[in-house]
Amino acid sequence: MLHVPVLLEESIEHLVQDTEGSYIDCTFGRGGHANLILQKIHKNASLTSFDKDPEAVKYAARVKNKNFKIVHDSFCNIDKYNKNNSVDGIIYDLGTCSTHLDNANRGFSFNKDGPLDMRFDNTSGQKLSDWINNASKQDIMNILYKYGDEKHAKIISNAIETQRQDRPILTTTQLGDLIKKIYPEKNIKIHPATKAFQAFRIFINNELHEFEKSLIAASKIIKHKGIIVTIAFHSLEDNIIKNFFRPSIKSFPKDIPINNEKTQEFKCIAKKVRPSKEEIYQNPRSRSAIMRVFKKI
Ligand SMILES: C[S@@+](CC[C@H](N)C(=O)[O-])C[C@H]1O[C@@H](n2cnc3c(N)ncnc32)[C@H](O)[C@@H]1O
Repeated sequence: MLHVPVLLEESIEHLVQDTEGSYIDCTFGRGGHANLILQKIHKNASLTSFDKDPEAVKYAARVKNKNFKIVHDSFCNIDKYNKNNSVDGIIYDLGTCSTHLDNANRGFSFNKDGPLDMRFDNTSGQKLSDWINNASKQDIMNILYKYGDEKHAKIISNAIETQRQDRPILTTTQLGDLIKKIYPEKNIKIHPATKAFQAFRIFINNELHEFEKSLIAASKIIKHKGIIVTIAFHSLEDNIIKNFFRPSIKSFPKDIPINNEKTQEFKCIAKKVRPSKEEIYQNPRSRSAIMRVFKKI
């Protein structure tokens, strides 16, 4: 199934304020948001999309608009391609594409048997199988707690250690089935490996660190009155956004570093926008999405 863009109309409505402007789509995926931006902007405006995933970059070759460019790089490097105060709008639609979960070979899903990979950029970095068979039990447990909020992290990391002494964990179903077998709660609505798979994916792709770095870069390259739209899918991402853009409390004592000074430059113009019931019905993956919109002032 092709990826269905989330909060499409609402996000682009906020993003494109100047139809002759210069825009950045940090997460091309299958081009849902990019395509609507290109429909809205004039030929003399421009859109540059980024994606770490070589398959997304290959897919972008279908876009023939002369004012469109795709860059195979992490969005944490957007400031290397753009001057300070030069961009009118930047959008992030975070997380995975449905196409990642649907392709067994990418190793993202416990429902599809494939190599335990999980890298967005499968041309570099370490696969989950390389890490999980060598990391200490303590490190595995910490990742499960930190990025998955998994209360059974200790039980899962113990089971992983025992299993890999017998034979290495090399596939998605091997890991998913192992977690399901040892998971203490049996009657839960989600697959018992859901939180663990999220935690490992965030870790393997260094997702939160790259996102924080990218927001700093975005705050430099965005113009005065420029717009930053974020669509997050879990609280770890959303907390980074809220924290980054939180206005500082001016009366706070100077020696207590509660915030990054640069974030005072932004005003929140749309807070916690959620998909409609209709969108969630049409595209259940959208149910956890939270959109926030910020304007540089
Ligand atoms: C939810 S999808 C985007 C979907 C897209 N908006 C659409 O409508 O088709 C997220 C995309 O971001 C990419 N991605 C994740 N982290 C990235 C990063 N640090 N830099 C660049 N791309 C990243 C993933 O490879 C994935 O293709």
